[in-house]
Amino acid sequence: MKVTVLVGSQWGDEGKGKIVDLLSEKYDIVTRYQGGANAGHTVVIADRQYILHLIPSGILRENVICVIGNGVVIDPTALLEEITLLEKNNIKVDGRLFISQNAHLIMPYHKLLDTISESGENKIGTTGRGIGPCYIDKYARKGIKIVDLLNRKSLEEKIRKNLEEKNNLLKKVYEHEELDVEEIIKQYLEFDKTIDKYIKDVPSFLNQSISEGKSILLEGAQGALLDVDFGTYPFVTSSSPTSGGACTGTGIPPNKITDVIGIVKAYTTRVGNGPFPSELLDEDGNKLRETGAEYGATTGRPRRCGWFDAFLVRYSVMINGINSVAITKLDVLSKMDKIKVCTGYSINGKTLKTFPTDVDRLSNVKPIYKTLQGWKVDISNCGNFSELPEKTKEYLNFISDSAGIKIDIVSVGPKRNQTFFVN
Ligand code: GDP
Ligand code: IMO
Ligand code: MG
Repeated sequence: MKVTVLVGSQWGDEGKGKIVDLLSEKYDIVTRYQGGANAGHTVVIADRQYILHLIPSGILRENVICVIGNGVVIDPTALLEEITLLEKNNIKVDGRLFISQNAHLIMPYHKLLDTISESGENKIGTTGRGIGPCYIDKYARKGIKIVDLLNRKSLEEKIRKNLEEKNNLLKKVYEHEELDVEEIIKQYLEFDKTIDKYIKDVPSFLNQSISEGKSILLEGAQGALLDVDFGTYPFVTSSSPTSGGACTGTGIPPNKITDVIGIVKAYTTRVGNGPFPSELLDEDGNKLRETGAEYGATTGRPRRCGWFDAFLVRYSVMINGINSVAITKLDVLSKMDKIKVCTGYSINGKTLKTFPTDVDRLSNVKPIYKTLQGWKVDISNCGNFSELPEKTKEYLNFISDSAGIKIDIVSVGPKRNQTFFVN
């Protein structure tokens, strides 16, 4: 019986979707615990590509039950679009998807306020999905939850009350036209008809499942360095992607978690703004972007690319309690003549002992690099560790030692079968 948390160890897009899909064969339940439709988790099965934003990536395995926990913020429009798309592809959702009654709803004003705040200076480079404004309302105790969809009268009252405040803000502060209250009420009253059947008391369901010996995979979105507490604040998302978020975002207590798997890209990428010490702004960066198809699964934005940062991953291992790692996109490095690994940072000639999340310091660090020889051979068909070229093995051993990680899974392509277990 396993209750495994799977986390992104860098700045998101590490290949979580692919690894969740792979591992979910061995789990009964897959649960998302934070974030929302800002996530884009890609799963490739045969020649078909699915990009999941809200529904756990386990949905593509027919025996798996999928759960959306209370920590997730749900845009009903995005959710229904995703359900429709899956069903069109003959993937059954009804009876396999459950949503926590305590998850908060993304409202049209959240998306609008996200866009407005990104149109000024000091842009974070958000996905524009309304994530930050929705979590603001949650913590300001003004949010509207999934359970509110079940009480039409109170839903209408809550929307009216919120709209009064938001329209004031839109008009007086942002000089933006007001939103149509009646239209939003009509739209959200409709959602109960379709979402009702998915609503569940998720903490009871998950804890009961654990006591029956079922195994659960908790699918994190984003990555540790985008965590609102442990990431590169303010260039972060508004939730807790780190492993602690898996408890608060589902109702599974910490003593029921059995292990933490970190998904680690063989190099580093980041979308949006914020410091990125090992970023490559040269031809090598472009090469990684083009070879790795590093364009956002949600927004299509080009991802910033850089060398593997072992110092950053070491920090991620510490705050997440990662005890096992899946290395992804190793094949993407195959074209590089030389490959660098950032092993630490210095400021004014002084080597740092701990990772600085303070953005002012992080923007001023100088990465310390070790240069390794590239292997220059296609590895995308390698089916086990021994088939890898010697130089690839050296690279894996080096990042394993310098980041303090135990590599159990290696991914050499986007497909399910382009993966192998080490040992
Ligand atoms: P996630 O958000 O962590 O699930 O990652 P994304 O889906 O946003 O981005 C990962 C991208 O890399 C997707 O397009 C995957 O299909 C692709 N991918 C995953 N693993 C590998 C791999 O080992 N090699 C290559 N070349 N692509 C991969
Ligand atoms: P997955 O789950 C990569 C980034 C945005 C921005 C910051 C805040 O696919 O790995 P937000 O819309 O959350 O308020 O944006 O976080 N971001 C991601 N970057 N992968 C993601 O998700 C991301 N979700 C948000 O680009 O910098
Ligand atoms: Mg992604």
